[in-house]
Amino acid sequence: MEITCKYVADLDEESCEALVLGVFEGAKELGLNDSPALNKHYAEIRASGDFRGKANECVVTYPGAELPARRVLFVGLGKKEKYGLEQVRQAAGTAAKTLARKGVGRAEVALATFAHESLSPAELAQAATEGALLATYRYTQFKEPDPEEPATGLEQLDYLVETETTRSEAEAGATLGRKIAEAVTFTRDLQNHPGNWLTPVRLAELAEEMAGACGLACEVLDREEMEKLGMGALLGVARGSEQPPRFIIMQHNANRKDELETVVLVGKGITFDSGGISLKPGDKMDEMKFDMSGAAAVLGALKAAAELEVPLHVVGLVPTCENLPSGSSMKPGDILRACNGKTIEIINTDAEGRLILADALAYAQRFKPRAVVDLATLTGACVVALGHYASGLMGNDPDLLERIKRAGERTGERVWPLPLWEEYHEDIKSDYADMKNLGGRPGGAITAAALLEKFTDYPWAHLDIAGTAWTDKERPYTPKGGTGVGVRLLTAFLRDWAQAGT
Ligand code: BES
Ligand code: ZN
Ligand code: ZN
Repeated sequence: MEITCKYVADLDEESCEALVLGVFEGAKELGLNDSPALNKHYAEIRASGDFRGKANECVVTYPGAELPARRVLFVGLGKKEKYGLEQVRQAAGTAAKTLARKGVGRAEVALATFAHESLSPAELAQAATEGALLATYRYTQFKEPDPEEPATGLEQLDYLVETETTRSEAEAGATLGRKIAEAVTFTRDLQNHPGNWLTPVRLAELAEEMAGACGLACEVLDREEMEKLGMGALLGVARGSEQPPRFIIMQHNANRKDELETVVLVGKGITFDSGGISLKPGDKMDEMKFDMSGAAAVLGALKAAAELEVPLHVVGLVPTCENLPSGSSMKPGDILRACNGKTIEIINTDAEGRLILADALAYAQRFKPRAVVDLATLTGACVVALGHYASGLMGNDPDLLERIKRAGERTGERVWPLPLWEEYHEDIKSDYADMKNLGGRPGGAITAAALLEKFTDYPWAHLDIAGTAWTDKERPYTPKGGTGVGVRLLTAFLRDWAQAGT
């Protein structure tokens, strides 16, 4: 989809396939002063009672001789007091999908009707662009796109603006929004790939390809190199599969690492989690192809950091393998040794994410990072605690956690804190090793994070994205499948960090 910005003096005279207008709930008038014909048209719609401007409510009209626009799409913005960037994304997403489903190829958006005193034209255009592009994303690698479906239809959106200054600001916002949305769709594609196609080796190849295309440094370690480093925890998980494991190291601004601050991002890359010898029940096991969503988010965030030229040294670490049962699998009772020498007793082979992350977090120490953020579809317990509307946030540095929380609020990728008190470490004490990989059912999301904490010696935050990484229900700008969660959050976090400094 192309997005452009266009200066228009008189909306009443605008001839187009479809004109998109945002309307606040219960608004008596459109927020347009010099458009009597549009105002009259809206007054009729409002009088009919068919449209009240509730969030994401949508109606399409055919004004005929009243206006030169062939269709007018009114999209509800909800209550003015609750309005913000997230509502802009949702409304733009709803509008884009509705138009695409009607076979509209090109539409014009009256940006002023989406405006609010709290939002700049650039922010508005960025959010609308993210919403429209993400709403019309479809995964098409193994299935022809449905002709009724959004991705095929809408080819162009023009944002109509009232002044030349607004135009250049909106253009900058739209460009930013597009780069971010492209990183998210890259991540969604990785997530949606089936496990037989997206093996650890293929994930590493795709990472290298993306790195080459956007100027990132990329190094991939194979089993032998991991053995040399002593990554026994990652290798223990990988042992059950015939697919060889990989460890991906990606860097943005590696050549400027002495002058810039270093932030490391770590993502869980289990390309399929069967549970291993502690086999999962069959119900919904197919969803465990999404168990590499943390890895996908980290790669997407690195892509965005490169495209947006974020002035930080950003490192992405992705441990990746399959978790399968076989004669060579690790077993309950086994003890693994991570690359920092610490030993872990396996109680349940399905608690594998924390094992591969342990080696990656220990490896992160060599970068002497100012901050490390890991993302993982780590525990079912986190889904029980928070459901699907927030990722779990834990860590050891209040300032870092606060920055992530703020980035989550602004991007709509919300996070919610869980405590990580000393007591939780008691639950993972082992009689035979330095720790065990399971703390029992109570506080399962937290005891998993407690294990990770033992491998950190830097400011660290952990995001459990088990409940947010994919969805089986379409949302305003998120179709079913991988959501790309984490990319917009991490990108906002990195940009803020670069801007504010420490
Ligand atoms: N990948 C799963 C966590 C998961 C489960 C994510 C469901 C999303 C939806 C993880 O490796 C796992 O299996 N965790 C187990 C841990 C258990 C054995 C303590 C879990 O949460 O059930
Ligand atoms: Zn598991
Ligand atoms: Zn897992």
